[in-house]
Amino acid sequence: MNQDNNKQTKDSTPLPTREGHGGGSKVVIKLDDVRRNFQVGNETVKALRGVSFEIHEGEFVTIMGTSGSGKSTLLNQLGCLDTPTSGEYYLDGVSVRTMRRSQRARLRNRKIGFVFQNYNLLPKTTAVENVELPLMYNKEYSAKQRREAAIEALKAVGLGDRLEHKSNQMSGGQMQRVAIARALVNNPAVILADEATGNLDTRTSYEVLVLFQKLHAEGRTIIFVTHNPDIAKYSSRNIVLRDGKIREDTINENILNAADALAALPAQED
Ligand SMILES: Nc1ncnc2c1ncn2[C@@H]1O[C@H](COP(=O)(O)OP(=O)(O)OP(=O)(O)O)[C@@H](O)[C@H]1O
Ligand SMILES: [Mg+2]
Repeated sequence: MNQDNNKQTKDSTPLPTREGHGGGSKVVIKLDDVRRNFQVGNETVKALRGVSFEIHEGEFVTIMGTSGSGKSTLLNQLGCLDTPTSGEYYLDGVSVRTMRRSQRARLRNRKIGFVFQNYNLLPKTTAVENVELPLMYNKEYSAKQRREAAIEALKAVGLGDRLEHKSNQMSGGQMQRVAIARALVNNPAVILADEATGNLDTRTSYEVLVLFQKLHAEGRTIIFVTHNPDIAKYSSRNIVLRDGKIREDTINENILNAADALAALPAQED
């Protein structure tokens, strides 16, 4: 045996992080002075008024802000569901603004996993079938491979024992985990969550947060839009919008552990 008992080996040195963002060095998302105006009658509503930031691979970013601050408008840009009035958005190095609708749809399907507040699962459809959906348009997958990938993703979210359960035969937390598996199955560059714990009770919210922290620990890039300031304690970075502009952009130096918070909750009554 030739074990090195010295704890300060080179291998134990933490990996260098870029700009202290806690992520890898690769830029997954870059916004450059993005503006989005809406014309309502004679009035121009400036929903985004020059938003710029970079998000690196492996970051878990929460986006917060009061109602009307531009969160959904921003998320629609990030999700390639809308295009800016001016400014540039690069997703995985590709400029999105100049793309045609069909190109954007393809990019969205391949690069982004969405998780919504209301799960958006197909009703009366099994967990496996729901998770297989994003792969239906992907010719690289045979039916068998699709099913295997879906089962793998469901196992990763702790639902290996609910594969054949239908949407209406699961709890809210389980449905949200199916939705997260569906978001993961394509191995997307980024996971976009919109109030993903908004419909869940406290305990279930923490269970879902535990899962997001696990994905973060595995190196996933996550953007989580929320009204709830507590969620930001569990992310690695928090961006606050106000009146369509970035008001704060802070690195979380003290990321709380959602599993600890879950364990500290009062015991559940049967
Ligand atoms: N399609 C639209 N047409 C006109 N104005 C819009 C449109 N979408 C959003 N806006 C305006 O842009 C601003 C930002 O809206 P947005 O929906 O992004 O806010 P939000 O932060 O998501 O709010 P909430 O927390 O209530 O969901 C608001 O003033 C809103 O009225
Ligand atoms: Mg909104």
